[in-house]
Amino acid sequence: MCGIVGYIGHQKATPILIEGLKRLEYRGYDSAGIALVEKEGLIHEKAAGKVKTLEELLINKTFASHIGIAHTRWATHGVPSDLNAHPQVDHTGNIAVVHNGIIENYRTLKEVLERKGYNVISDTDTEIIAHLISMYYEGCLTEAVRMALSQVEGTYAIAVIDSRSPEKVVAARNGAPLLIGQGEGENFVASDVAAILRYTNKVVYIEDKEIATITANDFRISTIEKIDITHKVEEVGWTLEMIEKAGHEYFMHKEIHEQPETLRNAMRGRLNLEEGTVRLNGLTDHLDDLSKIKRIIIIACGTSWHAALIGEYLLEEYAKIPVEVEYASEFRYRSPIIDEGTLVLVISQSGETADTLAAMREAQRRGAKGLGIVNVVGSTIARESDGGVYIHAGPEIGVASTKAFTSQIMVLSLITILLGRMRNISYNMGKEMIEALQSLPEKIQTILDNEEQIKGIAETYYKHNNFLYLGRGVNFPVALEGALKLKEISYIHAEGYPAAEMKHGPIALIYENMPVVVIATRDSIYDKVMSNIAQVKARNGNVIAIATEGDTEIAERVNHVIYIPKIKQCFTPLLAVIPLQLMAYHMAVLRECNVDQPRNLAKSVTVE
Ligand code: M6R
Repeated sequence: MCGIVGYIGHQKATPILIEGLKRLEYRGYDSAGIALVEKEGLIHEKAAGKVKTLEELLINKTFASHIGIAHTRWATHGVPSDLNAHPQVDHTGNIAVVHNGIIENYRTLKEVLERKGYNVISDTDTEIIAHLISMYYEGCLTEAVRMALSQVEGTYAIAVIDSRSPEKVVAARNGAPLLIGQGEGENFVASDVAAILRYTNKVVYIEDKEIATITANDFRISTIEKIDITHKVEEVGWTLEMIEKAGHEYFMHKEIHEQPETLRNAMRGRLNLEEGTVRLNGLTDHLDDLSKIKRIIIIACGTSWHAALIGEYLLEEYAKIPVEVEYASEFRYRSPIIDEGTLVLVISQSGETADTLAAMREAQRRGAKGLGIVNVVGSTIARESDGGVYIHAGPEIGVASTKAFTSQIMVLSLITILLGRMRNISYNMGKEMIEALQSLPEKIQTILDNEEQIKGIAETYYKHNNFLYLGRGVNFPVALEGALKLKEISYIHAEGYPAAEMKHGPIALIYENMPVVVIATRDSIYDKVMSNIAQVKARNGNVIAIATEGDTEIAERVNHVIYIPKIKQCFTPLLAVIPLQLMAYHMAVLRECNVDQPRNLAKSVTVE
């Protein structure tokens, strides 16, 4: 949610900042801007639209500056416009601020500033920060930022420059991600490592309520209360190649195709076939507690919430532990009952989702142990959880989550085997489950190899405006996920339902030729799903079935069949979701949508 990048060092700042913005664009993409300290003072350029528009604006301008900050925005206060784009500048024209987050008391602060004669011209909360810093400025930018932030309530990651102090960038964070990239004779500040990976993989994570003063050769961090802090420099394992498209038209397409590999990565070093169990390093310190838990609450949002529903099925079925799945945004405002035997599992690809983070903190405040299932190493949830398991899916840049979803299910499956083997599942069952998981990458590859058929189905239906997705049991969350993928990237209205629920309402929606996607794999509830299909067909709906290889019978009863290989029933979601991801992708491409950057969305939702 908004991307920030800042640079100070021996190179010219502009190309580094623009490149950084392009890599951060998945975080927000309704406007972009840059501020630099040139010989003649602070300059800033900004424009509504994508980073490309900003780049075009700069094309005939040359800048010599070696210091600058830049921003790509996801609007919260004020419509996307040139005026509301960041950087926001104070009334003297010396100070520029870029900001990710929401200043909750900005109306009060605005009134105070206006009474003092400051002219607030944009609709943003960020402009208030620029004026506040200006108001407190007495020769030291860091101190002025410190004073300003002591007045501010809300979430922020900010980077600030001042033409009177061209030797430093000041950055601060509270509730939104921010890191320092350490180079040689140069330093960076960024919302995430993707922005700076070309130059360095050495990072220092700034913590909440900390301020960093960054020069070309050094950086100092202190708390808002002025206590000096030292954080260790960490090396990030991601490579530049991992954050590039590698010949695919869109990141989403690349990420769908990476799934055989990402699932191998999620399993690597964790399977113990000989003992029919798994080893998860992030949980080894908690094994004693895990053997005693009586109940699990899983907290997540969006796609991660769908993975959680599959986790519920797996954990209840095999580990026999009662599970509740909660939307993080709801959990944080309820009075959840958490007792000694309750374990809280938190799932988040980004590890930065504001609702999920707040829910985890709430659970921890109530005495629960919070374990994370996270992709981004070093993210806030990863650092604040009491332990957990990385999914190792690598950077996911397409806004629509794909490979993170399957890797989350993989890790939930591993946790199920671990907890199940500590309780009631046999060695043979553990081994059987592990073998099934090991067979997944190859099976997924066969589905990916069938992309042309799936694309053909997308070509038949992409002009429709309504879709229904149906599934039962462990595949009900897959129906939800299929519908979410379609709506978020193609803007087609889609609903996911448990197949049997259709007759309680949604069946009224079915009109002639309406596309209804049904997950109808050969499992214990196959016959029931076939009855649901018959109900759709009786109303002249068109059924696209996801079925098990070899099921010739179904082909006669539906309009299209996409076959997936046979797998142990509890793991079918890992296969059934692949054609749904590809179908959504191709429909979005056919509808000429920007697949990686769908309207109104951003990859990492760091605001409430
Ligand atoms: O980073 P997280 O997993 O915490 O993100 C949660 C949701 O915001 C995310 O899954 C969102 O629903 C995606 N756009 C789905 O494709």
